[in-house]
Amino acid sequence: MSVLTRRHLLRHAARSASATAVAGVTRAAVSATVPTGAALLTAGDATPARRTGDPATGPGDDTDPERHTDAEGTLGLHFPENFGWGAATSAYQIEGAAKEDGRGESIWDTFSRTPGRTRGGDNGDVAADHYHRYLADLDLMRDLGLRSYRFSISWPRIQADGRGAPNQRGLDFYRRLVDGLHDRGIAPMATLYHWDLPQALQDAGGWENRDTAHRFAEYADAVFNALGTAVPTWLTVNEPKTVVQNGYLIGHHAPGHQDPDAAYLVAHHLMLAHGLAVQALRATGDDTRIGPALNLHPCYPVDDSPAATAAARLYDGYENRLYLDPVFTGSYPADVLADLGPGSRMVQGIRDGDLKIISAPVDLLAVQYYTPIYVTGTGGTERRWPTSEASWQQIYPDGMYDILTRVTRDYGPVPITVTENGLPTPDTLSDAGTVDDTGRIAFLRDHLAAAHRAVASGVPLESYHVWSLMDNFEWEVGYDQRWGLIYVDYPTQRRVLKSSAHWYRRVIAANGL
Ligand code: FCB
Repeated sequence: MSVLTRRHLLRHAARSASATAVAGVTRAAVSATVPTGAALLTAGDATPARRTGDPATGPGDDTDPERHTDAEGTLGLHFPENFGWGAATSAYQIEGAAKEDGRGESIWDTFSRTPGRTRGGDNGDVAADHYHRYLADLDLMRDLGLRSYRFSISWPRIQADGRGAPNQRGLDFYRRLVDGLHDRGIAPMATLYHWDLPQALQDAGGWENRDTAHRFAEYADAVFNALGTAVPTWLTVNEPKTVVQNGYLIGHHAPGHQDPDAAYLVAHHLMLAHGLAVQALRATGDDTRIGPALNLHPCYPVDDSPAATAAARLYDGYENRLYLDPVFTGSYPADVLADLGPGSRMVQGIRDGDLKIISAPVDLLAVQYYTPIYVTGTGGTERRWPTSEASWQQIYPDGMYDILTRVTRDYGPVPITVTENGLPTPDTLSDAGTVDDTGRIAFLRDHLAAAHRAVASGVPLESYHVWSLMDNFEWEVGYDQRWGLIYVDYPTQRRVLKSSAHWYRRVIAANGL
């Protein structure tokens, strides 16, 4: 285990410790990160290929700083026809109804009930009460003009103990949700696992136990059979890296372990679970699509020294290639395996045939982009850009361009959907009943402009989802951070469209910004 992986521990520890430290910085931060051609060229090795006047890009220069001075101003950027404008949520973060209709306990129920684990003991028992309010929420999605909605299915609603016959009442909820989306002309995109492992499976070893990957495939099969082609796009595991790093290295996510050797065995079992779910979908014969949902961080050396370059490369291995390579090339990155060492539990846990399963062809890749990472010659990290209220997030829109173009360059033209991108802002409800989140508008505008440049450079980006549709339970920081387009007044559960929601509705209607 190298210094690098120990540094991971320290870096992510900072994520929980200082999550509320920089409230208020957001607006200044966003306007300080206007993407410019110069920033692009210093940040990545790809030259932006802009085709001025091309119908896909529209007239105008989307990197012109003048165009970024007014958060509400339009940039003259047009997205491809049928672009999937969307928003994303996950089950534990919004549903509530933790004990209803046969839902079992998940590791997040256990974790959030453990004293000291979440801010002020916040938990998802009620959350945004979406389980009861989904019809009104669907109407809000229609009012926004969403074309795609990414949500997750709660495994413990489908199998309370993570095994056996599926719970019909749980399946019925998602059937009603999916039907309601279709009724409103919104395409459902369902994630099978967004971190709420049934507690009973954790008791049997959780993701350290290879059998959990097989249980996952069984659960996926039950969901595929129940919802079938009503869900055109499936995502397997949300951010396996976050489970590895936050759940097993730092321990500030469920199940709260600090065990580096276990962490990377967990990585392998999550990737195996992904591959087995792909196999299960193919076995149904349904003409639906499936892929993984990976949070990717561009890793830049802080300078051009050989030491920083080498350290950034290995860092990139742990952050990105460990999850991309097995799916798209059928092997784990050799540098990461060498760094873990032949005796590590992960290396020992890879069996013949596993990589064939993991590399079963996927139909699309879901990319979640929040922050870049700057790596020093000793494998540490430096902060280059202002952070949002989430101290782990540096606001750097060009990172979106860099990561999208890099994936296409390195792994080929697999269709891409951005399934998460957003930031928390210090939102308050005014007496007039409005929420003015201009910082979010500027952030989304700049990241969409970067995504647009990626499309113009040939990236097959088909859709984009804001994280998040509505304010929700943000894991270890509970309800402290507001990431939504829609404000949730938790005491009353009233929903209020923020300024960003009104802005996004106009973007969707114009198919551009
Ligand atoms: C991602 C998670 C999502 C949310 C955002 C802010 O890592 O997938 O649930 O917490 O970060």
